[in-house]
Amino acid sequence: MTTTSPASSYSLNADYWVRIIRENLDQYRTGLTNAAMLTAAGDVTGLAVLDAGCGEGYLSRLLAGRGAGPSFGVDLCPELVDAAQQQATDEGLDIRYETADVAALPLDDASVDLVVANHVLNDLEHPAPAIAEFSRVLRPGGRAVSLLLHPCFYGSRGTPVDRDTYFRPRRIEQHFDVAGEVSPAPVVAWTRPLEDFAAAFTAAGFTLSGITEPRPSEQQRRDDPWWEENFTRPLFLLLVAQKVA
Ligand SMILES: C[S@@+](CC[C@H](N)C(=O)[O-])C[C@H]1O[C@@H](n2cnc3c(N)ncnc32)[C@H](O)[C@@H]1O
Repeated sequence: MTTTSPASSYSLNADYWVRIIRENLDQYRTGLTNAAMLTAAGDVTGLAVLDAGCGEGYLSRLLAGRGAGPSFGVDLCPELVDAAQQQATDEGLDIRYETADVAALPLDDASVDLVVANHVLNDLEHPAPAIAEFSRVLRPGGRAVSLLLHPCFYGSRGTPVDRDTYFRPRRIEQHFDVAGEVSPAPVVAWTRPLEDFAAAFTAAGFTLSGITEPRPSEQQRRDDPWWEENFTRPLFLLLVAQKVA
């Protein structure tokens, strides 16, 4: 069992992560989950957006390019925050990034319209405090859009979830392996029963307004055999939660 914290494992992986994202090596994202997140975000013109667990910041840059702003991003990993800020500054985008925990956001109450958490809730052993923070910083009626590993089907790489482990929180430690490129350090992901995520959003004052399961279209599967080999079971769950007005 590793003793590294999420921030330190991402620090060790920071250069790798920036390259994987900026060279568009992760086909799950480029072919599937990015479009799903942007569709769920909808029209973001003029919305103040928080990119929670922003990594190197590409999602907040995409949203800023679609008219969102002012925007914020937070991440525990200072190297990724620096990379995100540098890129946004270079592109002239109105996005401010800070090193912070998603469970202790450096933002005022009711100060944002949209929170996006792209592949982040699985990094948290206990997601409820972060979800409560999303609620605190959102204006009434604001939305939190979260992309997760599908809790019903995602075990560790290559193994389905079985009956006996599904109903317990599950710790998954593995190296990223994206397009054959393996990360220098392992990372720890957590998943838990779907009802736990639903309960955490509800307890934080949200209603779940959308649940979708991003997957390749028939056309994608016909056009690119990669999907047949790499999407053999449902992998992703996208939750849209609206803060009760
Ligand atoms: C799988 S990466 C996703 C990054 C980014 N959202 C993306 O899609 O490229 C998970 C990110 O969550 C960050 N993270 C993990 N725990 C966190 C916490 N408690 N607070 C803030 N960020 C955290 C990690 O540093 C990492 O950048």
